[in-house]
Order: sequence, then C-alpha cells, then structure tokens
Amino acid sequence: MEQVKLDTLGEWKRTHYCAAVSEKDMGKEVVLMGWVQRRRDHGGVIFVDLRDRSGLVQVVFDPSISQESHAKADHLRSEWVIAVKGKVRPRPEGMENPKLKTGYLEVAVTELKVLNTSPPLPFQIEDYVDVGEATRLTYRYLDLRRPAMARHFIKRHEAAQAVRQYLSKEGFLEIETPFLTKSTPEGARDFLVPSRLHAGKFYALPQSPQLFKQLLMISGFDRYFQIVKCFRDEDLRADRQPEFTQIDMEMSFVSEEDVMQISEGLVLYLCQEVFGYELPSPFPRLTYAEAMTRYGTDRPDLRFGLELKEITDIVKDSEFKVFSTVAKKGGIIKAINAKKGAGLSRKEIDDLTKFVAEFGAKGLAWIKVRGTDWQSPIVKFFSEGEKAALAERLEMEDGDIVFFVADEPEVVHESLANLRVALGKRLNLIPEDKLCFCWITDFPMFEYDTAEGRWETVHHPFTMPKEEDLIHLPDAPEKVRSRSYDIVLNGVEIGGGSIRIHRRDIQELIFKVIRLSEEEAKEKFGFLLEALTYGAPPHGGIAFGFDRLLMLLCGCESIREVIAFPKTQKGTCLLTNAPSEVKKKQLEELSLKVKA
Ligand code: AMO
Ligand code: AMP
Repeated sequence: MEQVKLDTLGEWKRTHYCAAVSEKDMGKEVVLMGWVQRRRDHGGVIFVDLRDRSGLVQVVFDPSISQESHAKADHLRSEWVIAVKGKVRPRPEGMENPKLKTGYLEVAVTELKVLNTSPPLPFQIEDYVDVGEATRLTYRYLDLRRPAMARHFIKRHEAAQAVRQYLSKEGFLEIETPFLTKSTPEGARDFLVPSRLHAGKFYALPQSPQLFKQLLMISGFDRYFQIVKCFRDEDLRADRQPEFTQIDMEMSFVSEEDVMQISEGLVLYLCQEVFGYELPSPFPRLTYAEAMTRYGTDRPDLRFGLELKEITDIVKDSEFKVFSTVAKKGGIIKAINAKKGAGLSRKEIDDLTKFVAEFGAKGLAWIKVRGTDWQSPIVKFFSEGEKAALAERLEMEDGDIVFFVADEPEVVHESLANLRVALGKRLNLIPEDKLCFCWITDFPMFEYDTAEGRWETVHHPFTMPKEEDLIHLPDAPEKVRSRSYDIVLNGVEIGGGSIRIHRRDIQELIFKVIRLSEEEAKEKFGFLLEALTYGAPPHGGIAFGFDRLLMLLCGCESIREVIAFPKTQKGTCLLTNAPSEVKKKQLEELSLKVKA
C-alpha cells in the first residue's frame, strides 16, 4: 500500500458523536471523528459515510469549499480513521435518506485529518454479515464495530446500570466476593488455579458466590447483590459459557414470596427502562409437578399452547401393543395435538420421528384428522370407544395432527417437550416479540443419581427443604420438596434461587442424605457449618443469568452475541488462542508437570 502521511490529533476536540448531529446544529461548525464506512466519488464531490459507535453521518468533500481536503479525501479507504471539521447543512432536496437518523443533513468539510489507515477487512462492517462465527471471533474487535453488535453492549451497559439503580434503591449493597477460592458445588466441574506458594494446592474459581453471600448474611449485611463472573467447566451450548455473569442477590429475614417479589420488580424495571416492554405482572407460577405434566419440562415456553395430555388411562388396554405394553410396565403415554398441523408431510413426520429419537423415544405415533376421517398407521388398533375418548381428551378437530410417545415418564417428557418447541417453530405458533416469564416452584429436593448410586440435590445442597417434608428426609428423600424457585423466560431458565438452610443440624442432615461423609463435609464446608452456629439469620436469594437474560431481551440466538469476548463451543478463545501452553519455568514454579 502506498505510504500515507498520517496527521496528529493536535488540539482538535470532538464536538459530537456522528449520529448525534441534528437539526439544532444546522449552520454550526462541528468536529467529528470515526471510521470511513464508505466512500463514494460523485463526479468531483466525494461523499463519506462516517461511523462511530453512535451510527453514521454523511460528510461531503467539495473542492469548492476546500481543495486540500478534497484531494486528501480521494485517498480514503474503508475503515480508515479520520477527523473532520465542517459545517452542518441540509442535504439537497431528493438526496435525503429516511433510513438514517442523520439522513436529512450532511457535514460540508473544511478540514480533514487522516489519523490511521487500514487494509481491507476480513469482512464488511455491516449489520448483517455473511461470515462464519469463527472469523467473527478471531477478529472480534472488528465484529464489535458492527452497529448491531454495538447496540447489544450499549443495552448491556444500560441493563447493568438499571440493576444497580433498582437494587440500590431497595437497600441492597454491592459487595465483591473472591475469585480465588474453594470449590462451591453448582453441579459443574471447577476450573482450578495452582498455587505457587503452596505446592500441590489449588484454588477453585467460583461456580457462583453462593457460600460467600450466605456468609455475608451471617455478617449482618442483610441485603447483598453483585454483578459477578462465575466459572463452570461444563459442556457448552448456545446458552452456556465457561465464564458467564450473574446478577447475584441474597436477603435476610425473608420468605420465598419476598425474594420473588423483589426479583419480579427488578425484571419489570429492567424490561421497561432499558427495553421499553410493559409486562403483565405478577408472573404466572407453576409448580414443578404441574410444569412437567403440562409441558414435560421445568422451563416451559409459555408463548404458545400445544400442551401435553396424558392418555394412558384411555389406551392402556388397547390392541396397539406398543401402548398397552408400556402402560403395563408402569410407563405412560402422552400426546400433543398440533392444531392445524395436518399439512405436515410424511417426510416431515419422519424427520420429527428422528428428532424425538435423540431424546430416547422409540417411535412417534401420529393421527391426522381429515374431516371425519383419521389417517394414521395406528388407528386400526383402536376401538370406537377409545377413539371417542381420544377425540374428546385431545380436542381433535379437522386439520389437526396428534403425536404420541409411550415410554418411561422421563423419556416421554423430554421428547414431547422438545417436540412441542419444534412444532411451535415449524407451525409458526411462537410470537417472536413476546416475553413470557414464569416462576417454577416446589422442586423436588433430591434426584437419584443412578450412575453414582446415591441421592443428589436438584439445586445446591444449601437449599432449605419444606418444613412439612422434613420427616421424609431419612427414609423417603424423593418425597422431600425444596424451598426453591426458578424463573423462566420464553423457555430459557434465566434464574434460580431458594431459601437457604440457616441451621447447622439441618445442613448436616442434607449432607448425610447425599452421602457426604462427616470428614468430607468438614473438609469442604467446615467453615460454613461453623458459621451457621454463630447466629445465622434465616435468609434466601436468587441469581439471574445476566447473559441469558440479555440474549433474550436483545432477540439473539446465542449468549455469545451479548458477551464481548466469548469462548467457542470448545471453550477456546480464537482471538487470543487461549488456552495455550506455558513455559516450563512457569510449570516448575507451580510445582506442576504435564503428562506427555
Ligand atoms: P444456578 O446454577 O441456577 O444458581 O445459576 C443461576 C443462573 O445462571 C445462569 N447460568 C449460566 N449462564 C450461562 N452459562 C452458564 N454456564 C450458566 N450456568 C448457569 C442460568 C441460571 O439460572 N448460587 C445459585 C443461585 C442461588 O441459589 O441464589 C446458582 O448459581 O440462567
Ligand atoms: P410399529 O408398530 O413399530 O411399526 O409402530 C407403529 C407406529 O407407532 C409408528 O408410527 C411408530 O413411530 C410408533 N411407535 C413405536 N413405538 C412407539 C412409542 N414407544 N411411542 C410412540 N409411538 C411409537
């Protein structure tokens, strides 16, 4: 590239962001700085769309105004960094661009400074780029120049401010908790940090500030919050990152109601102040059992219907052996009526059958209703009585298609819950711009881990069981419900919390159920057990997944779109190439050896 003489900023001070130049600046001199989005040469006059984080403004280089600037502008290329001084004037009639905020004005340049150059970029800086995510992540700093991306981070900033405002007003104190700490169990693997000063010992990065926020309650801080990074070494998905941000909260002397009320207030405030949504409140509440029965999942998307209906009682003695056998073995049969879905082709049904197989379903039976006729591979097995009962229970009408899965409850629920969402998308039943929040309550306290052969807590083990269920702790852990709650938005779990155990005796009982030996409990959580004895107040809290919440509010498909420098699905950073090898000397200092 030819050598370009670069100017220095000198005494120039920017007067406006590009998109902030407006009607009231007409005739005034402005100084703008930014990147060349596009340069167009219109027979003697050169137009440049100048871009900064606020957006675009058109600047004009007219030789009759400044010969020198016009000559310099001739060399400008996309993404060069420039500063211009000039006068704001209306665009000539017929030249307005109604799509642009500044589309009715332009800046006639009197002086131009070229501050830096750039070779052609690996991709265009435009809202909709047709380029793979790997390239975007490798050049993330360029990707973030795209106005659509910039908007996400402006929103993220505003959302964080709104959270701080709301919670401060409600008396919460923002207190930091350590990153170099001991493992907190949130169900994932820990990221470990070797200690140089203590050979063979490790810190764990926190999966959440759970134990520290409980200790802060014991300290008497009463209301705590933090917008905080959490670290979890788990398999990544579109809504999971190894490091992510929580809005973490804890309160003393509260019940579930209090925590849910404050949380709902926070969400409503954030949605309204930052995103302009007016939402109905209170949010609907479903018990875990009800959510599983009706939607097959504890994070139902309530933007559309297609609820699951159980039909085991109707078909348990039917001639269709698949159903009757499952029913006899203690399994269940459930169905979804995909209203007006009878137009689905055989190929589409086959694809859906393969889709549910991923969740363990051994098949996907179906019935299409065409007038009074039922088209289906299985209808021949049903008696008139069974058909009438199915038609009534499933509200089958002309044009509907009903899908069935028979299996153990876990398989039926998982496959139909996923089928429900897939059908919702395929049949266009999901209103894109709607926000449907709900609370899920009354979770079971424990689930049986068959691989490990022991009970595990569904939420973390510091969750308080319901008092009336405590009698079942020793003999029937499956009957114990916890005082926990999750908050779900459009089918995504965006937060969860609970009332905590504030008594050492109950905490020890829970450790016993999950077969944590006394020594282990002492070694891992001795500090907590001891702290609980020194006047721990009743307390509870919640943590929101800030990235997930923003992903949904910004209308993105992945949390990577609202994280400035995210990791790939494989946990790598394509920009810096982390994780990477380290020098032998560093390992030696840490008393570590890498196995070949
Ligand atoms: P939990 O483990 O449910 O609870 O986490 C709270 C919320 O954090 C979000 N989240 C994630 N977001 C992105 N990437 C991840 N890997 C990831 N993991 C979780 C989810 C989730 O709802 N200490 C408890 C909270 C409490 O009891 O107060 C906790 O961390 O949106
Ligand atoms: P088959 O008798 O195996 O040919 O199955 C007849 C129909 O029942 C096919 O549409 C299968 O997809 C469906 N089917 C088989 N097993 C199940 C099951 N466990 N649950 C629901 N449908 C099934």
